[in-house]
Amino acid sequence: TRTIKLAVIPGDGIGPEVIEQANRVLDAVLAGGDAVLERTEFALGAERYLATGDTLPADEQAEIAAHDAILFGAVGGVPGDPRLAGANIERGLLLKLRFDFEHYANVRPCTLFPGVESTLKHPGEVDFVVVREGTEGPYAGNGGRLRPGTPNEVATEVSVNTAVGIERVVRYAFETARKRPRKKLTWVHKTNVLVHAGATWQRIVQAVAAEYPDIAVDYMHVDAATIFMVQDPARFDVLVTDNLFGDILTDLAGAIGGGIGLAASGNINPDGAFPSMFEPVHGSAPDIAGQQKADPTAAILSAAIMLDHLGLASESERVREAVRADLVSRGDARRGTAEIGDAVIAQLPPRGV
Ligand code: NAD
Ligand code: IPM
Ligand code: MN
Repeated sequence: TRTIKLAVIPGDGIGPEVIEQANRVLDAVLAGGDAVLERTEFALGAERYLATGDTLPADEQAEIAAHDAILFGAVGGVPGDPRLAGANIERGLLLKLRFDFEHYANVRPCTLFPGVESTLKHPGEVDFVVVREGTEGPYAGNGGRLRPGTPNEVATEVSVNTAVGIERVVRYAFETARKRPRKKLTWVHKTNVLVHAGATWQRIVQAVAAEYPDIAVDYMHVDAATIFMVQDPARFDVLVTDNLFGDILTDLAGAIGGGIGLAASGNINPDGAFPSMFEPVHGSAPDIAGQQKADPTAAILSAAIMLDHLGLASESERVREAVRADLVSRGDARRGTAEIGDAVIAQLPPRGV
């Protein structure tokens, strides 16, 4: 038996609702196999902050680091909650984990599954993966405010782009492209305006590309990329881009792929020095929280990415197969969060078939 230590951070809002279903699917798919999950749940997020003032205490972070993987729901309190003024759970918890655990490859696949209606009228083939840089760029938190509250206030957010940081994610994206049939990589930036970071990205993409002659490389400015993603998503196979561009493009990709309730992700530390973290692309959705209205499919598919990452490829494929079967037979019926979990479990193909 192989014991996998899984840290679970359900978080806030719909986070716990969707993670509950992902955990049920994990238990169902692993039942009768060699791998068992040993879970530790960490009560972190806005609720914890409101109760204790803690965002991510160092001892808990160290405990999380000792796990094989992290399953994360979503964080974020109710917008406008005055008790959260001055707190930043997103930075203090989610981004801190991504940065400290060197989740430099934020992998966000976008596939329009059969039976799923896209927001696009004529989507064509939608099957691409965004490799979003996860540890630097405009997210670095490098900036400040001068003379706050005055008419001469100045606020800066300085994007940090290191050669090491760019090269490792670009290389990961080329490797990802190599494993896919179309062998195509589109790198996305805004080199016409962000000339400094743009030049560094360009130099590194070109240098790494020379090692991957089997991969066709093209470049798009991020604004144009949004046009093509909506008008002709079939032209994308693998994309690689900066942290902020990747954030925005993957919500757009979520909408194209049938809705944000289906969009999964992995925050990967490919070197394996730290546990990778798997989470739906969506947030805590305060507008529907606590009502069993959230679609848990994004969380379930994130768990499938996790199984792949842990070397449990056939279990991962069985989860995806079950999700595909559920999506095909879904129809128009509005189902609750747990009902969708039930349906996916019912569709799980038996082991070894
Ligand atoms: P959101 O993704 O939470 O919600 C956007 C819209 O999508 C809402 O209408 C919501 O109801 C809907 N939606 C989201 N997930 C859904 C699901 N599984 N099924 C059905 N509908 C779903 O984005 P937001 O409103 O911008 O952010 C809310 C909070 O979440 C903020 O505090 C934000 O910072 C945080 N957030 C956290 C994460 C994360 O933890 N990874 C990601 C994004 C946003
Ligand atoms: C996401 C979220 C996060 C991000 C926020 C909540 C920090 O939007 O995972 O896409 O911007 O990366
Ligand atoms: Mn986002």
